[in-house]
Amino acid sequence: MSASIILGIESSCDDTSAAIISGSKILSNIAANQEIHNEYGGVVPELASRAHQQNIIPVVEKAFSKANIQQNDICAIGFTRGPGLLGSLLVGTSFAKSLAMSLDVPLIEVNHLQAHILAHFIDDANPTPPNFPFLCLTVSGGHTMIVLVKDYFDMEIIGKTIDDAAGEAFDKIGKIFDLDYPAGPIVDRLAKEGNPDAFKFNKPKMEGYDYSFSGIKTSVLYFIQKEVRKNPDFIKDNLNDLCASVQKSIIEILMDKLEKAAKEFNINDIAIAGGVSANSGLRKAMEDNREKLGWNIFIPKFEYTTDNAAMIAMVAKLKYERGEFTDIRTTATAKYDL
Ligand code: KG4
Ligand code: ZN
Repeated sequence: MSASIILGIESSCDDTSAAIISGSKILSNIAANQEIHNEYGGVVPELASRAHQQNIIPVVEKAFSKANIQQNDICAIGFTRGPGLLGSLLVGTSFAKSLAMSLDVPLIEVNHLQAHILAHFIDDANPTPPNFPFLCLTVSGGHTMIVLVKDYFDMEIIGKTIDDAAGEAFDKIGKIFDLDYPAGPIVDRLAKEGNPDAFKFNKPKMEGYDYSFSGIKTSVLYFIQKEVRKNPDFIKDNLNDLCASVQKSIIEILMDKLEKAAKEFNINDIAIAGGVSANSGLRKAMEDNREKLGWNIFIPKFEYTTDNAAMIAMVAKLKYERGEFTDIRTTATAKYDL
């Protein structure tokens, strides 16, 4: 039997993406990023929906042509049903429903957070995929959590942020430094030339595995306000050191809890997922723990870290094999638990 060919659609936030998967192999993974939000310092939901509407057809067409696949060759369509911005999700959901009807193929709903985690099972994501149970630190602009992954669709959140997500902390602190949105990748780049021990910021004292990132943001803000009163060029003069120090603090907060969870659950297979898993400092901290603690680490390829449809297609493929299809009358949902 030839491998199943599935189209995946992602539109939960500000990336419109379409991918074609054959078996577990990604044949194409196309994304249109929405630069319109940069000037507003964050994603504007109304503008995101409009941009998805403009992008979705060209992105899907490109995914088919790059994969060299005809529409009639696909056997199912997977789409992000949630969580995310409702107006954004509606575009991908309505498109997926309509195309599934016209091609007479089954529709498969995908949870965006599960997809970030299950991206580790894409053929070329890792030399070998993680073994169950594994821990996955899922860190994006909207979510920060430690997930105990017992099986493909049996996941338990053991800790999560009580306020800002880690990506949000990068973005908001970057905004204090007058960096463009999203600031995460810019902070990462500038941190490479800076001294991570130049400045110290308060770290939260949280019980268990939960996170908090609003304290570090406030601590940076007060520190900057104080220093700028003395030297108006303080940020410019110290930008690399500031970025390196903030990045170090955020990574320490993330890794402390992850190390504690790995120890207490006695788990050695440790993965990271989501947009912030692109961060070079976080990747290095994981590498260090491979040496220091003997972890088997799973770090996604860059194209599978930030929002992408390859991960949606991967989950759709797993559900297709289980015969788990979604009623065509389904609707998108902004909130969607793991
Ligand atoms: O998973 P994602 O693409 O979208 C959400 O579902 O939120 O994550 C986007 C987040 C943004 O906050 C962005 O600043 C952050 O991931 N990010 C990074 C890096 N690349 C993306 N943060 C730190 N370092 C990076 N290299
Ligand atoms: Zn995401």
